Amino acid sequence: MMQEDVPGAVALQKLAFPPPFSEDLHWDPEHLLHHVAVFPTGQWIAESEGQIVGSCSNAIISEARWQAHGSWGATVGGPYIHNHDSKGSTLYGLDITVHPEFRRIGIGRAFYAARFDLIRTQGLTRYGTGCRIPDFRQLAQTKPGLTPEAYVSKVQHGEFADRTLTPLLRYGLKLIGVVDNYMEDEESGNAGALLEWTR
Ligand SMILES: CC(C)(COP(=O)(O)OP(=O)(O)OC[C@H]1O[C@@H](n2cnc3c(N)ncnc32)[C@H](O)[C@@H]1OP(=O)(O)O)[C@@H](O)C(=O)NCCC(=O)NCCS
Repeated sequence: MMQEDVPGAVALQKLAFPPPFSEDLHWDPEHLLHHVAVFPTGQWIAESEGQIVGSCSNAIISEARWQAHGSWGATVGGPYIHNHDSKGSTLYGLDITVHPEFRRIGIGRAFYAARFDLIRTQGLTRYGTGCRIPDFRQLAQTKPGLTPEAYVSKVQHGEFADRTLTPLLRYGLKLIGVVDNYMEDEESGNAGALLEWTR
């Protein structure tokens, strides 16, 4: 991602994270410009015939921040990624966004291949992230008592498909738990699936 790609990446947020996801949580141009300034090698876009059809944001966080397994905000320090630490151990996935008309053709997988390459070339310990589980709430309405923990385990074992967690598990990420109150995200019951990949 270069400075000139930022408006296209911001526009993509509205298409990829429609309501009920809060618009307040979309990137502002200033956020992405800041990421490009502090960690340029960790900010990417996907293009098709000059159109921006994907974006992917990353930070590096300390071992202690990763081990704390906190909310998105506490882990990265908010949208300006105040907790980015170039000497840290863990590449943390801030966002992956693919244009709805360009899904299921491997763009997400290509972003993940780039994440894993960056970990190898920079000698980092791991990749970590909290993943939305946007099909949880709707399913939970038909299955009273279904917890996010039980849901992610069933997605892991292929009993349910989740439009976000399923692809991320297919990239080889390991499910290590659930973070409650990970971010304001109605569809996911505000929970995030904690995922890790190590070299
Ligand atoms: C999640 C997301 C990034 C996936 O990107 P994508 O480019 O469509 O995914 P890919 O083409 O790389 O698909 C990877 C694998 O997951 C599978 N997959 C993708 N979407 C799926 C879905 N909705 N249900 C089940 N499987 C799915 C694909 O079939 C593919 O399987 P393979 O192992 O045979 O290759 C994309 O759907 C997206 O932008 N979602 C909205 C934004 C979002 O929620 N981001 C994540 C924030 S945590």
